Amino acid sequence: MRKKLAAGNWKMNGTTASLAEVDALLAAHPAPGCEILLCPPATLVSAMSARIGDGPIHTGGQDCHAEPSGAHTGDIAAGMLVDAGASHVILGHSERRQDHNESDKDVRNKAKAAIAAGLVAVVCCGESDAEREAMNTLEIISGQLAGSIPDNVTGENLVVAYEPIWAIGTGKVPTLDQIGEVHDFIRTQLERRFGEGVGRSVRLLYGGSVKPSNADDIFAVSNVDGALVGGASLKAADFSGIITAL
Ligand code: G3H
Repeated sequence: MRKKLAAGNWKMNGTTASLAEVDALLAAHPAPGCEILLCPPATLVSAMSARIGDGPIHTGGQDCHAEPSGAHTGDIAAGMLVDAGASHVILGHSERRQDHNESDKDVRNKAKAAIAAGLVAVVCCGESDAEREAMNTLEIISGQLAGSIPDNVTGENLVVAYEPIWAIGTGKVPTLDQIGEVHDFIRTQLERRFGEGVGRSVRLLYGGSVKPSNADDIFAVSNVDGALVGGASLKAADFSGIITAL
């Protein structure tokens, strides 16, 4: 049985004052029935993790470097995230693929480093509007999964997030059939590559304009094990509504 996961990606938002939202979430969900993960900007990982303490919310990074240390100005190694209290890291988000030209191979190397450091890699995939229009969605997803996920994964060290680029921050959400088609496809791809045991144990998240008002319907779709939430994870009241729907 896969444990449901509500993951929040704060992206480039938040200062120490935003940690009040974490307090509110902890107060609202002292014993949640699902896993909760918050991925703040790197500047807040340590403070957020300290604030949560033994509480039921995990802290994660939004990226890491493939190397353990070295002359990489501005970058953060996976081991540094662990040192700051993180247990997860988002990798291959479409904003990083676009803004920083990250390739599938880059994401794979980062995922290897993250897993070696003891982090859970939350690997993102998703098609653009043009790719969906051209009916290339499944081909794109297949290529991203094959290229971005390393070989040594398990249900414990890997989570896959499906985020259609055109649904991120736009208020547009795929139909439930479209979400189901892609999630079923990802599940099949993972089972083929890693065997049924591992393939069935990896959690699959949907991401892209998830809100309290649509979460119930999305979470009822086959092979949707939770959500990777951007905008609606910034305020405890919104994220709380999504957590409750899981
Ligand atoms: O990582 C989160 C996603 O990019 C979704 O963002 O919920 O603001 O659409 P959004």
